[in-house]
Amino acid sequence: MRRKIVAANWKMNLTLPQAKELALRLNTWVKIHKPVAEVFIAPSHLYLEQMNKDLRNSSITIVSQNVSAMPNGAYTGDVSAEQLLSVGTKTSIVGHSERRAYHHEVNKYIGKKITHLYENQMSPILCVGEKLEDRESGKHFDVVREMVSVALERQSSENLKQNLIVAYEPVWAIGTGKNAAPDQVQEMHSFIRKIIGEQHGLQVAHNTTILYGGSVNAGNASDLFDQFDVDGALVGGASLDFDEFTAIISARK
Ligand code: PGA
Repeated sequence: MRRKIVAANWKMNLTLPQAKELALRLNTWVKIHKPVAEVFIAPSHLYLEQMNKDLRNSSITIVSQNVSAMPNGAYTGDVSAEQLLSVGTKTSIVGHSERRAYHHEVNKYIGKKITHLYENQMSPILCVGEKLEDRESGKHFDVVREMVSVALERQSSENLKQNLIVAYEPVWAIGTGKNAAPDQVQEMHSFIRKIIGEQHGLQVAHNTTILYGGSVNAGNASDLFDQFDVDGALVGGASLDFDEFTAIISARK
């Protein structure tokens, strides 16, 4: 089912006390305001267990920023799907552009992460998005097609139908203050839905939740959310600011 989601990607920010304080403030706000959108928070791996405990009775979902492509073994510093699940985390971001850029993650490898998540009855938030040079040379659709289709080619349509979230995050808009125009976002989201439909059928395409990410803030959120194929947002910088983030959540009607 397509869901309305506003997700915070805290990246490598906040100490444990800061993260707890912000999460508890958001929890109180969500209880009072009962927003239409589901709220997700992706804190550091280190805090997942604690935050799952702190927000045990909350409607906020705690998700992971990353997961290993391997099930277990000698992979120093990595965290497996099974380990995430053992601390109560059932969803993970995969393929974020910062993982692709700084850790050389490629589409096939990202697909393996998704497979491990589904094997553990967990689910992915698959991030895709072109670089500035791809857009300027008119290759953005080809690049995004490759990212989506290779990551999803080995997944079962049944799993995808139950639970698939994709985040379209053009690299040139992440952390730059330059967000994509609403019509550019709509065009790419509907393209992503079309590719998923061609690969896995219309039912999967119809059920997929597609978030936009890249310099989303309180000022531009509602124009983005007005687009037919934009189901919500994945928010980096602005999610660290309580007022800004809650304004974005409220914009998702
Ligand atoms: P940004 O990051 O909102 O700071 O641009 C978005 C993301 O990387 O998920």
